[in-house]
Amino acid sequence: MKITVIGLGYLGATHAIAMAELGHDVIGIEANPQRLSDLQNGKVPFYEPGLPEALVSVLAKGNIVFKADHDSESLEADLHFLCVGTPQLPGSYAANTEYLHSAVQALAPYLREDAVVAGKSTVPVGTSAELALALQAATGNRPHLVWNPEFLREGTALEDSLRPDRIVIGVNDEHSETVMRKVYESITDLGTPFIVTDIPTAELVKVAANSFLATKISFINAMAEIAEVSGADAVQLAQAIGYDERIGNKFLRNGIGFGGGCLPKDIRAFMARADELGVGSAVDFLADIDAINLRRRSRVVDLVTQELGDLTGKKVTVLGAAFKPDSDDLRDSPAIAVAQLLQAAGANVVVHDPISLDQVNLNYPALATEQDLMVAATDADALVLATEWREYREADPAVLAAVVANALIIDGRNALAVERWQNAGWRLIALGRNVEASI
Ligand SMILES: NC(=O)c1ccc[n+]([C@@H]2O[C@H](COP(=O)([O-])OP(=O)(O)OC[C@H]3O[C@@H](n4cnc5c(N)ncnc54)[C@H](O)[C@@H]3O)[C@@H](O)[C@H]2O)c1
Repeated sequence: MKITVIGLGYLGATHAIAMAELGHDVIGIEANPQRLSDLQNGKVPFYEPGLPEALVSVLAKGNIVFKADHDSESLEADLHFLCVGTPQLPGSYAANTEYLHSAVQALAPYLREDAVVAGKSTVPVGTSAELALALQAATGNRPHLVWNPEFLREGTALEDSLRPDRIVIGVNDEHSETVMRKVYESITDLGTPFIVTDIPTAELVKVAANSFLATKISFINAMAEIAEVSGADAVQLAQAIGYDERIGNKFLRNGIGFGGGCLPKDIRAFMARADELGVGSAVDFLADIDAINLRRRSRVVDLVTQELGDLTGKKVTVLGAAFKPDSDDLRDSPAIAVAQLLQAAGANVVVHDPISLDQVNLNYPALATEQDLMVAATDADALVLATEWREYREADPAVLAAVVANALIIDGRNALAVERWQNAGWRLIALGRNVEASI
């Protein structure tokens, strides 16, 4: 099929490359000149394992092109995917849907009457109906608009796109359903569940899923708060409750909480939309989920202060900047928030990350960074593990102990082998655990 993918960020670039891998003819449209030229030159503008190789391969096959704007070639497309951002509006919890509105206005002159428009961005329920009205006003035709939420996870984005655990589409008409079934045929042939529903349900599926995941993380972080004052161990607690299949052990590791470009803004946008619909109280609990999540960040600062006293002039090395390993995404990253809180408390903070330090320097110039782990750790009064990169999990604690001023590490992700670090002379404090008592 001939398709366009509009907006080539973490979601859109991955989707465009995945669609080209499946054999479709893809036109990628990207407004940001730097991202566009990177992609045109065969470079993925962000860190995502496996994606650079896949981009080189589809470019060589010749079934993907990248452009700044639509042109007459877009008129040949049977399907247009909307993948632009829906960030949190400044000063509000609501999502900013203006990029979607601009994208459909720009698409309208190139939209064939039978072509389908599939929204993939995460949106407040009701957005698709607004976009359909805007498209109808611009084209004079009733659009074939569907909603097709995306569940990929950064770090495994390509694999998640090619082998998703389910595909959900919200449709209003048979023609759109036929086109959507066709574009995903080679995936559904492998047995992937294909759920066809109405549009509001499809819009809600994504925010409901993210709200559930955020709730699960904040639930175990709330248990960690209790564990910390009662001498219990939240890691063992998670393991014990996780054996119950109805609970499950995934997303049940306590630590400094969730971040990134999705979960935090999605639960806030959900609260804002529910309020607009007059049912705000149905998701009032998400405010607590958000608050628990943010409290874990300041807990790290409390722990470092408890250990070192006044932080003024103390060197604290923050290990990790990205919101999760195998990503360079710093949006709402707990690691960055912890680094900023420590700095505000007077510490001399140095941030290390295997991949994203250029992004840190660009976006957070007030934070000092160091690319070499050993240099970053040298003379540190404390290390804080904020992102559980493999490099930190596999680091040799004895080698690090030799260069720090004080062998103290706060494990903000419960990712380190406690005994190994303790045996190398470290005082290790893990969130939600009394590790000294348990060893
Ligand atoms: N990042 C993820 O893991 C993920 C997963 C599932 C869903 N989502 C959702 O997907 C959407 C996009 O997320 P993202 O992380 O890719 O955001 P992003 O900010 O990385 O990417 C959005 C891209 O769209 C481009 N853009 C904006 N307006 C445009 C226009 N009119 N024409 C062409 N390009 C335009 C921007 O320049 C940017 O490169 C959001 O709604 C997000 O919630 C993201």
